[in-house]
Amino acid sequence: MPSAAAVFHRPELARKLVQQILQVGVGSAAGSGVFLSAPRRTGKSTFVREDLRPAFEAEGALVVYVDLWANPPADPGDAIVQAIRSALQGQDGVLLRLAKSAGLSKFSVGGAMQFDLDRVGLGATVSLSEALVALSDEIAAMIVLVVDEAQHAMTSDAGVAALFALKAARDELNSSRHHGLRVVCTGSNRDKLAMLRNSKEQAFFGAPMVNFPLLGRDFIDWFCARIDLPFPLDAAQVWPLFAAVGCQPELLGAAGDHFRFDFELDPAAGPQQFAEEVRRLAAEMVEVQRKDIHSLTPIQLAVLRVMAASGNTYAPFETATMGRYRLAMQLAGLPADEVKADVPGVQQALIALQEKKLVWRAARGMYALEEQSTVDLLRAEGLLAGLD
Ligand SMILES: Nc1ncnc2c1ncn2[C@@H]1O[C@H](COP(=O)(O)OP(=O)(O)O)[C@@H](O)[C@H]1O
Ligand SMILES: [Mg+2]
Repeated sequence: MPSAAAVFHRPELARKLVQQILQVGVGSAAGSGVFLSAPRRTGKSTFVREDLRPAFEAEGALVVYVDLWANPPADPGDAIVQAIRSALQGQDGVLLRLAKSAGLSKFSVGGAMQFDLDRVGLGATVSLSEALVALSDEIAAMIVLVVDEAQHAMTSDAGVAALFALKAARDELNSSRHHGLRVVCTGSNRDKLAMLRNSKEQAFFGAPMVNFPLLGRDFIDWFCARIDLPFPLDAAQVWPLFAAVGCQPELLGAAGDHFRFDFELDPAAGPQQFAEEVRRLAAEMVEVQRKDIHSLTPIQLAVLRVMAASGNTYAPFETATMGRYRLAMQLAGLPADEVKADVPGVQQALIALQEKKLVWRAARGMYALEEQSTVDLLRAEGLLAGLD
């Protein structure tokens, strides 16, 4: 996490988002939650922690934050439950309410202390919804639950159950009896996030999807003024470079580190070499992915290409999709007798693609590309032509 001094703040963006999220217009589904999507490593979590959270708090809301990527082996359902338990921790009034409703006998003196937070959870004595209702009534304020990298909730049954529990809580808290709940989800992959809101069975059906704005020219001005290299950087030159490498601050930071202690360098040549280093680092990242893709078997590559071309309409085992796998193999110039696709073969390919971290599988057998950038790479290599 960057230290406080090293963060470029975006208070205006935070203010606008907070306003839109707190005041739900007539007929808007924003009360269902809001989805912010942007590619990975572009500053979503930093913004949420450093700017969005304080902006909600300034409006008197209680923010519960959980990053489902922070601790990958942990079950996303548990992570959500834990975050809600931590919000209850130390709120004696809430614990007392929960102790009463859970029927604990001696709640009058020190009753709050007797209430064990382990009783709150999925399928536990106190549901997440009941816990959030008690919290809302006690603090008499809006609760904002921020779920960072929310798509991970779909990878486990407990995660899916937690999402439904949140939906129930939201419906209850947004009734006139309580003080409101907003769920803000962020994610690095639009197709994955879209699964949370595209079908009626999903917890956040109809919730608005917002393209989270990438860091802009003002960030580059800030960055160039502070980077403190042995040579100055001109924001007008760095800005197009930053945009070309997907607006990832870490690439600039890593290139900077490359020159920080290079006191021999001719300052006049510095900016040019800095630009080359940024491009080299970006190309290196793409090269790793390119190698992975070119080491796939024909059926694995066909599955990946068809998935990329289909986006969130991808249905792996439908007859029409089987035809498209074969088409992909033909287009790749495979001899006719090697062009075959059947269900077991596709199943195996999907498992292999998951192991290679190219493909992501949600509970209930929905699939998406792990990285959105894979689509760009496949397209640049001409591997989506004729399949789109
Ligand atoms: N506003 C910012 N100011 C300074 N550095 C930033 C800012 N946003 C992101 N960064 C840098 O980029 C890295 C990735 O940002 P992060 O918020 O983790 O991205 P995401 O959550 O989108 O994957 C951070 O570790 C930090 O170094
Ligand atoms: Mg993040």
